[in-house]
Amino acid sequence: MQPAMMMFSSKYWSRRGLSLDSAMFDHQNQLLGNHISNTWEKYLTRPDCENAEDSGKTAVVFSLKNEVGCLVKALRLFQEKRVNLNHIESRRSKRVPNEVEIFASCSCSKKEFNELLEHLKDQVNIISFNTPANVWSAEADDEDVPWFPMKISELDQCSHRVLMYGSELDADHPGFKDNVYRERRKYFVEVAMNYKFGKPIPRIEYTPEEVRTWGVVFRELTKLYPTHACREYLKNLPLLTKHCGYREDNIPQLEDVSLFLRERSGFTVWPVAGYLSPRDFLAGLAYRVFNCTQYVRHSTDPLYTPEPDTCHELLGHVPLLADPKFAQFSQEIGLASLGASDEDVQKLATCYFFTIEFGLCKQDDQLRAYGAGLLSSIGELRHALSDKARVKMFDPKTTCFQECLITTFQDVYFVSESFEEAKEKMREFAKTIKRPFSVYYNPYTQSVDLLKDTCSIENVVQDLRSDLTTVCDALGKMNTYMGI
Ligand SMILES: [Fe+2]
Repeated sequence: MQPAMMMFSSKYWSRRGLSLDSAMFDHQNQLLGNHISNTWEKYLTRPDCENAEDSGKTAVVFSLKNEVGCLVKALRLFQEKRVNLNHIESRRSKRVPNEVEIFASCSCSKKEFNELLEHLKDQVNIISFNTPANVWSAEADDEDVPWFPMKISELDQCSHRVLMYGSELDADHPGFKDNVYRERRKYFVEVAMNYKFGKPIPRIEYTPEEVRTWGVVFRELTKLYPTHACREYLKNLPLLTKHCGYREDNIPQLEDVSLFLRERSGFTVWPVAGYLSPRDFLAGLAYRVFNCTQYVRHSTDPLYTPEPDTCHELLGHVPLLADPKFAQFSQEIGLASLGASDEDVQKLATCYFFTIEFGLCKQDDQLRAYGAGLLSSIGELRHALSDKARVKMFDPKTTCFQECLITTFQDVYFVSESFEEAKEKMREFAKTIKRPFSVYYNPYTQSVDLLKDTCSIENVVQDLRSDLTTVCDALGKMNTYMGI
């Protein structure tokens, strides 16, 4: 059982009149004189200890058995939870023989610190802790900020939180009375629910009936693409044929598609068992992860499906996800959703719906489709580009209030001049979302940094500075080459 936790005051140790000797580093201490103790003493006795600078400092005191590897195990958690250690000391426990007490001062957000404590308490006895009271603004401390993944591996939690499984068919579903089809759908649910970040996506052995169904969809849609799809789509489809086996007689494998996308735009696809909430789905986009179904629609009506299936994902979404500008636009919506209120997530989901699912763009003075809902539906693709369709300019401020229609064609479609323009509009719109922090995607660690204090902002500035140096260097070389 864990000892009762108590709030840690920065003067905790000094009040107890303890001079911290190191139980584990006695020998080094002798060599280094009082170095460690002096440092700690200085920290403890600073008159402004509880003022602005130090009040944001975070510390935890925990005890562990004096055994080889215990401390390393505990410290690994700090690394995993991305909590920076500023100062660490140890001493023999005066309460429990053969135990060592560790004092660790660190800098991190309250959220990160709480997550650390959650995991730390499973491995060690936490004696006391001090939260970073002033690191977060009062608003950010609000319990109302919903949980969101801070790194790509945490998306497993989102992708497995399925609202409605793909095997739960409605009475009006074409496969409702087909027991073989229903069993097959259960298999796809199992594959998706067993999937975890970093694992290869299992290859599916599609049945001849499934391949025939895909073949009809593929054949009919590819007739329309040259006159209806946007140029980015038309550029990527032949590449998918070449690298991922997009053919009438072959259903491409998600694993091949994922590897292809990673090289083109940094996107990956994950298998999903059914419907996700808008919040969980959009969180994936923030990390350039697209949740894809793997099952095939029922064979009785190949040109109709009441739900997204692999034909919709592979023919509708994937070719555009290979475009770097479209990928950036998609990620922008995802990042805006992290930690946003339910109301704001709903607005973003509506923007997603009228762009990534049903968006149009203008190319060479003609309307073309880039939305996956259109590019995977023969009837609606024709309709959206006909005189019968109502078209408005995409503007997130107004588009977010448009009603999304599920069982009929849309009342209105939204057009953008380019993905670049759509992205800029989304960026502007994202600023209106009420969040006590800004988010910054770190592509090296595939994690999200919360920009809420000078330290985190400084890190981003350093990255930008390094990018600018590279740009200046390239410009300098160009100038030299051109003799300017
Ligand atoms: Fe879709």
